[in-house]
Amino acid sequence: MYLLIPAAGSGKRMGADRNKLLLEVHSQPLLAWTLLAAEAASSISWIGIVSQPTDWDDFKAIIANLNLKKTIEFIIGGSTRQESVYNGLQALPKEANHVLIHDGARCLITPDLFNKCAESILHCSGLIAGVPVKDTIKIVDDQGMIQDTPNRAFLWAAQTPQGFDVKLLKKCHDQGLRQGWEVTDDAALFEKCGLEVKIIPGEETNLKITTPQDLAIAEFIIKNR
Ligand code: CTP
Ligand code: MG
Repeated sequence: MYLLIPAAGSGKRMGADRNKLLLEVHSQPLLAWTLLAAEAASSISWIGIVSQPTDWDDFKAIIANLNLKKTIEFIIGGSTRQESVYNGLQALPKEANHVLIHDGARCLITPDLFNKCAESILHCSGLIAGVPVKDTIKIVDDQGMIQDTPNRAFLWAAQTPQGFDVKLLKKCHDQGLRQGWEVTDDAALFEKCGLEVKIIPGEETNLKITTPQDLAIAEFIIKNR
């Protein structure tokens, strides 16, 4: 299975002085934890890290320390996650029929979840890992007034990995470009094109590290593994 890791963000909400993937949790940078899980997932044979060339020296130093056996390619990131994934798709080897996309910032992923998604994408054309939401969710207008309370029984929080048929996802990205769609995950492009996306039960601990609080939670989870 081919794996693309979007890692080209700047981590604005983290408020650090560098890409948040370079910040350490339990003595390893976030990117290292994500790569260690991918290395340990038997289904994955090729890893593309989509990232800003300004981070490449740091990322290469991280990889050199990990002694990884799998093929790792560097792909130039874009100014949005959507653009970064687009670039990643163009850089996949021709023989790649399916792809998993997993955010570098979800560094608590387990090899088992990678493998589950890699197996499942052979039987459908689009999937994402997700978990049922625990909070009641409100739709709020720009005045801070609640407009609606969707039925929680139908609400899932989207995670990555997200897996797709490569040809179909490329088509969806092309259409998104033409129509100016701006989305925060690849499943949304698939949905907008009228294609089906299946939910695979994700992991409660598969958090996206976004703010400093998340770093503390990640530290706790990794320490206890
Ligand atoms: N990402 C990317 N290219 C971008 C923006 C984001 O590859 N232009 C990646 C990030 O590196 C991250 C993943 O997409 O692994 C999820 O994005 P997010 O958590 O939003 O990370 P950042 O964009 O870095 O953070 P922020 O939005 O707070 O700036
Ligand atoms: Mg972002």
